[in-house]
Amino acid sequence: MRFLRTEDFQLKTSDQDSVLNMDVTHQGLTPEQIAELIDLVKKVHGFDFSDYTKASLKRRLTRIMQLKKLSFYDLKQALINSPGFFQDFLEEITVNVTEMFRDPSFYKALNSQVLPYLSTYQHIKIWSAGCASGEEVYSLAILMRQAGLKDKSFIYGTDINTVVLKEARKGIYSFRNIKSYTENYQIAGLNGSLTDHFTTMYDAATIHSELKLNTLFSVHNLISDTGFNEFQLITCRNVFIYFETQLQERILELFYNSLCPHGFLCLGSKETIRSDLFKRKFVAVNQKENIYQKIGS
Ligand SMILES: C[S@@+](CC[C@H](N)C(=O)[O-])C[C@H]1O[C@@H](n2cnc3c(N)ncnc32)[C@H](O)[C@@H]1O
Repeated sequence: MRFLRTEDFQLKTSDQDSVLNMDVTHQGLTPEQIAELIDLVKKVHGFDFSDYTKASLKRRLTRIMQLKKLSFYDLKQALINSPGFFQDFLEEITVNVTEMFRDPSFYKALNSQVLPYLSTYQHIKIWSAGCASGEEVYSLAILMRQAGLKDKSFIYGTDINTVVLKEARKGIYSFRNIKSYTENYQIAGLNGSLTDHFTTMYDAATIHSELKLNTLFSVHNLISDTGFNEFQLITCRNVFIYFETQLQERILELFYNSLCPHGFLCLGSKETIRSDLFKRKFVAVNQKENIYQKIGS
């Protein structure tokens, strides 16, 4: 095996110049430089960001360069030569912002329009794709508990980012966050209080172990990994917004093939099925909340 070296990625004189200038503003990342970084990451680390939206990539790359005080040249060097740097890079490239019961009206709709249907199944397998630090998975677990469906449901949370998955497995959230999630919980119209589902200690709250038992978190890359089960419900919320249309369609195909007949797919509040092909494969159960049901087998 031959190790890749910096020279393999043609560090140009202009790159070297930017080391001298320290490229302080980073406003100047050109489309060519972004393409070069995408190519490098694909070759060296096997992650393909070519179908992420360019505007978002540019923002994230610029942020990494500013945070780490790196020029374009330094960034390439670090990606090739610094063990461990890629994990930090991945964490910055992926946007991991999340919350419990995000968009409470979505959970209200799920509760009233989808759960009655799911309750007719013997087992309910749910996939939360792009679950970040687990808040979405535990929101679903709480919803299932309140609907009396906990014992027959199981929720898989997956993400490309191993660091957030570690947080998700712990299921520990700061009390400050719990306070803001409580408002969502109430708007979603759920019974009791959000803290009923947590054990609180000092300034943190841990999700009840009986809810954790019904969950499993693992690494899964929506771009390169295949489906791994047949699900009654798939949620992939606030992930498509970072993907170009052709990538969204590839992933819709993956979801279609991973759903049981008449299974449900939930996208984020700004994410709709736009392609004619998939409009024929899914029917909108709730257009406003972007809840879809698979048509056919
Ligand atoms: C903004 S968060 C959304 C979290 C949660 N679904 C929600 O709506 O609050 C987007 C998540 O998608 C993940 N992600 C980005 N690209 C991915 C990919 N190719 N495969 C799997 N997850 C990905 C990110 O790591 C991040 O945790």
